[in-house]
Amino acid sequence: MNNFSNTHLAKYGFAILARRKTTTFQLVDEKKLKSLVKDLGTADKEALVKQSFSGKSGQIAWLSSDNLLIGWNGEHGLQTLGSLPFKLPSGFYSCEDELKEIDLIGWGLGSYQFDRYKKQDRRPSILVAPKTKKLQRAVEAIDSTYLARDLINTPSQDMSPTDFEKVTKQLARQFSAKVSVIKGDALLKSGCGAIHAVGRAADVPPRLIEVTWGNKKNPTVAIVGKGVTFDSGGLNIKPGGSMRQMKKDMGGAAIALGLGKMIMNRQLPVHLKLLIPLAENAISGNAFRPGDILQTHKGITVEIDNTDAEGRLLLCDALSISLGYKPELIIDFATLTGAARVAVGTEISAMFCTNGEDAQALVAAGDSQSDPVWPLPLYGDYEYMLASNVADVTNSAPSGFAGATTAALFLKRFVDKTPWIHFDIMAFNTRARPARPEGGEAMGMRATYEFLERRYGNS
Ligand code: BES
Ligand code: ZN
Ligand code: ZN
Repeated sequence: MNNFSNTHLAKYGFAILARRKTTTFQLVDEKKLKSLVKDLGTADKEALVKQSFSGKSGQIAWLSSDNLLIGWNGEHGLQTLGSLPFKLPSGFYSCEDELKEIDLIGWGLGSYQFDRYKKQDRRPSILVAPKTKKLQRAVEAIDSTYLARDLINTPSQDMSPTDFEKVTKQLARQFSAKVSVIKGDALLKSGCGAIHAVGRAADVPPRLIEVTWGNKKNPTVAIVGKGVTFDSGGLNIKPGGSMRQMKKDMGGAAIALGLGKMIMNRQLPVHLKLLIPLAENAISGNAFRPGDILQTHKGITVEIDNTDAEGRLLLCDALSISLGYKPELIIDFATLTGAARVAVGTEISAMFCTNGEDAQALVAAGDSQSDPVWPLPLYGDYEYMLASNVADVTNSAPSGFAGATTAALFLKRFVDKTPWIHFDIMAFNTRARPARPEGGEAMGMRATYEFLERRYGNS
């Protein structure tokens, strides 16, 4: 991090030097509380009772010395400090206990505010922490999460494919990465008939952005993200309630970009290919229709059963293009199906993986990062559900059973035998939790970075 100053850190809820009086706090679980109470004077004992402090995670108690106790579940994770930045009165704080990187990430993620359109009542409290590698790494993870959250939270009107392209180019410039863009009718010339079909009805043309970074001698990792800047459903229009949150349908693209930034920031020794297909799934006279048959980049023909199953259409061309770079691994992120949400809910990232060991490693990496990931089956026998009489495959199965699996099986045709990890995610916190404010969320991003670092990292 080139700018590691208080001014830069304040956005993430940190300072390395206290400007004003600092309140210290200690983390106490129920066991520690018992021994601590013995040494307290009567006034403090009474104060604890008055504040009903039992050491439960998230509780706060003030002592007469003006110092602070924070209830703790005994585990290091996002939970520990995640609710404090806005729960504690405005000011500077420091922690007496040794904090881990994940605790610092918790504080930083809990300090997030989306204030582009509304002034917020208060700023987060500031945690004063020593200038360490640990803090730097935490800030890198927080920064990438903020980037993804901001992109997701920004309404479609200000996050068109052109807007997303601008942000991507800015980021690429920062890290001297190369960018190329295939836009509008040029997509047809490049064979990307599926991306073109999804986006052609919108005023802002669809596109595929490619970012290339890192030493070519390193293993090539392709990262792909679904970038539907608004999903109306197309001619198979969504009912109002289902359409309401569809500004977030570029969440996969936002997370791919955030992950790319983490990789570049930390100089992970890989050769990175970031592929971001962007389109608005809109309705007009030239919209693609049920029954249309698309020519994809892979040469596979796709019959459209439902224009609302558009994410897999964007992804299939991008995945197929990525094969040209002979990646050792392909990873994609997508807000792909409602079925994945029915299966694992909104707070777990559903994951499909062609390799069982990788799947286990991802789950373990996610656990270590408080970023839960759960595998779902790539069950080949369900392929029959995607059969079409007039094309190689249909884009949506008639029944809806195993909907997340059939979507994944559709995509699998476009990656050949390349090892592949596919995330079907919510990319949105539907309720506020510690370190996870309501709104856009980089689900699966830290899990995947940790997985990649364990596999490719130097240390
Ligand atoms: N973007 C949606 C999926 C979605 C909805 C993700 C809500 C997260 C929350 C996607 O494009 C879609 O509409 N999928 C359809 C597929 C169906 C038509 C096969 C779905 O899940 O209903
Ligand atoms: Zn859709
Ligand atoms: Zn969608």
